[in-house]
Amino acid sequence: MPPKSILTPKPLVAGNWKMNGTRASLHEITVMGLSYDADLRRNVDLLICPPSTLLYPAATTALGTAIAIGAQDSSPKISGAHTGDVSPNMVLDSGGSMVILGHSERRTDHLEKDALIEQKASSAIATGLVAIVCVGETSSERQAGRTLAVVRRQLRGSIPRNATALQLVIAYEPVWAIGTGLTPTATDVAEVHLTIRNDLKKIMGKQQGEMVRILYGGSVKPNNAKELLSIDNVNGALVGGASLKAIDFMAIAETYRSG
Ligand code: 13P
Repeated sequence: MPPKSILTPKPLVAGNWKMNGTRASLHEITVMGLSYDADLRRNVDLLICPPSTLLYPAATTALGTAIAIGAQDSSPKISGAHTGDVSPNMVLDSGGSMVILGHSERRTDHLEKDALIEQKASSAIATGLVAIVCVGETSSERQAGRTLAVVRRQLRGSIPRNATALQLVIAYEPVWAIGTGLTPTATDVAEVHLTIRNDLKKIMGKQQGEMVRILYGGSVKPNNAKELLSIDNVNGALVGGASLKAIDFMAIAETYRSG
């Protein structure tokens, strides 16, 4: 899938390991690196976001593979009395270059709201990280016909006003599709991604909005990646379960191989 225009962003396939993985799992990153060859590197960026305990060793393992390492959350604060939190400069210091923010599991487990996610994203960007901001509707919101309204509200509320296309990635993850094996239809994904694209152009300006990567996440697997990743305005994937094993993750990345 070659880029369609000069403004079409380079795809990103990102793995979110969630609360999974110990040092033994780092081997998977080594194996991923072995098949991330020059052709794939040209066509797609790869990112693994392990739990914070593995950030530094994962970054060390990934050295020389061109696989980027990122965190799953970071604090809006840079340092201080915030027990249990990890600051964006700690992520950077550990070798991370990106951070997932506002994942639905954090919105649910930690009651994170749009305004806090916006503060975290601003702080991450100011530190030099790329912020991957997640949005997505629940099953009851979809059933009530509120998908676009919810996603648009989360988008407007969670992204920093002055972010540029290189500092920001959006991940559309319908909550009901995460870890369930369910996925929206291609038509539904296309509608949400086009809505996000149009809103980004309004918020950031036409050119910047065109260049932001919009990832789809929620039960992306080797067997459905081709269909999901070929939808208009889908510039890659945020992968949960299938990112834990190199063989599955790289099979998804292979979607972007030339020819
Ligand atoms: P699954 O791929 O396991 O559905 O998880 C998606 C996700 O939440 C990635 O952030």
